[in-house]
Amino acid sequence: MAAISAATFTIGAPTSLYQRGSSLPQSKSFGLRFTSQNHLNGFCGLRAVSSVRCEVESSFSGKETGSALRASFATKAQKESRNQHQLQPQASYKVAVLGAAGGIGQPLALLIKMSPLVSDLHLYDIANVKGVAADISHCNTPSQVRDFTGASELGDCLKGVNVVVIPAGVPRKPGTTRDDLFNINAGIVRDLVSAVADNCPGAFIHIISNPVNSTVPIAAEILKQKGVYDPKKLFGVTTLDVVRANTFVAQRKNLKLIDVDVPVVGGHAGITILPLLSKTRPSASFTDEEIEELTVRIQNAGTEVVEAKAGAGSATLSMAYAAARFVESSLRALDGDGDVYECAYVQSDLTELPFFASRVKLGKKGVEALIPSDLQGLTEYEQKALEALKPELKSSIERGVAFAQKQTVAA
Ligand SMILES: NC(=O)c1ccc[n+]([C@@H]2O[C@H](COP(=O)([O-])OP(=O)(O)OC[C@H]3O[C@@H](n4cnc5c(N)ncnc54)[C@H](O)[C@@H]3O)[C@@H](O)[C@H]2O)c1
Repeated sequence: MAAISAATFTIGAPTSLYQRGSSLPQSKSFGLRFTSQNHLNGFCGLRAVSSVRCEVESSFSGKETGSALRASFATKAQKESRNQHQLQPQASYKVAVLGAAGGIGQPLALLIKMSPLVSDLHLYDIANVKGVAADISHCNTPSQVRDFTGASELGDCLKGVNVVVIPAGVPRKPGTTRDDLFNINAGIVRDLVSAVADNCPGAFIHIISNPVNSTVPIAAEILKQKGVYDPKKLFGVTTLDVVRANTFVAQRKNLKLIDVDVPVVGGHAGITILPLLSKTRPSASFTDEEIEELTVRIQNAGTEVVEAKAGAGSATLSMAYAAARFVESSLRALDGDGDVYECAYVQSDLTELPFFASRVKLGKKGVEALIPSDLQGLTEYEQKALEALKPELKSSIERGVAFAQKQTVAA
């Protein structure tokens, strides 16, 4: 594999919300991949690709467990290369998972336990979290695991936390849409975000609970009511859409999976999920039929899993993988890595909609820049799909805002 070049990133003039990146360098690609030096000693499966050339400890292996394994594979040259470039991540961040006993929460907690950047992993649920925490705590990776059950322990769970991930709530069953979950999940997200505002208002908040198109605006309103809203730190997790797009495109075009990056914009439900196939890296050409087929498959991939599980829930394992990647990216950004990009559903002024998923640059303070370049030079198909998704996304946002504005949150 060619070395990943040390790319420069051009940041445009600040806008009302965030700085905007003006363009992505052609040499830069995103996706899941191994580091450039070799394939065995630097598996970075949870990383969106960056231009960083140095090797970083793998999230999957942790420092203690992984290094011995990798050392047994590495050649002398590889070891020398590693010694020159190795970063030494410090396990110093606190991460909380709310809904940690669930289908997503459990594998997500396990994957976060493997991060060398995490010192404390707090697992919260309304039930059954003790066993999950006891189980995961036996993994010999750096973080200390603690369990918290029920509303009375939620505050303690959140104190001092840097990143809060929220997969709490009910998942879809065959025949339901994400919007059908609104009535239950809206209240769950409201209450959990309210506790975040009270106990760790500076944390990055990752919302997984569906319908993300509405739960993120709900979270924003609750944080505003509490006087602690920072739009740069509130994220709807859409990483799974990118992960799926990368996988399906690589399969279809016979590309090496770890090289493929497809930005996915819009929202996280049905037609609001818009993969920008024309922006695929490395560049690939698609017939009209392929574009239609891939776009529809990416949009309906969640339903594919819901139907295959036949009533036993929605995507949990791939979702945990995607969410862990987004956590890892956030931690790297918090840790000062200046080269972290992910797609996420955030407050945005890239379109007329107040929330929109796009590629963003992550930094120590959250979203450092929205990246508009993916939205420039769209194909006619993409432009039409973008216009078509706006009314649905707008109404989901308005539904969330209206719900939150009816609530009275104790300041
Ligand atoms: N963003 C995405 O891409 C994406 C993908 C898949 C699923 N999801 C969503 O993630 C959510 C969780 O899915 P799952 O499969 O893990 O569901 P699940 O039912 O297996 O787990 C949900 C967990 O949340 C807990 N919970 C419920 N109310 C809670 C509360 N008030 N506080 C804390 N925990 C609470 C439950 O006890 C359970 O352990 C669903 O809303 C689903 O639609 C999002």
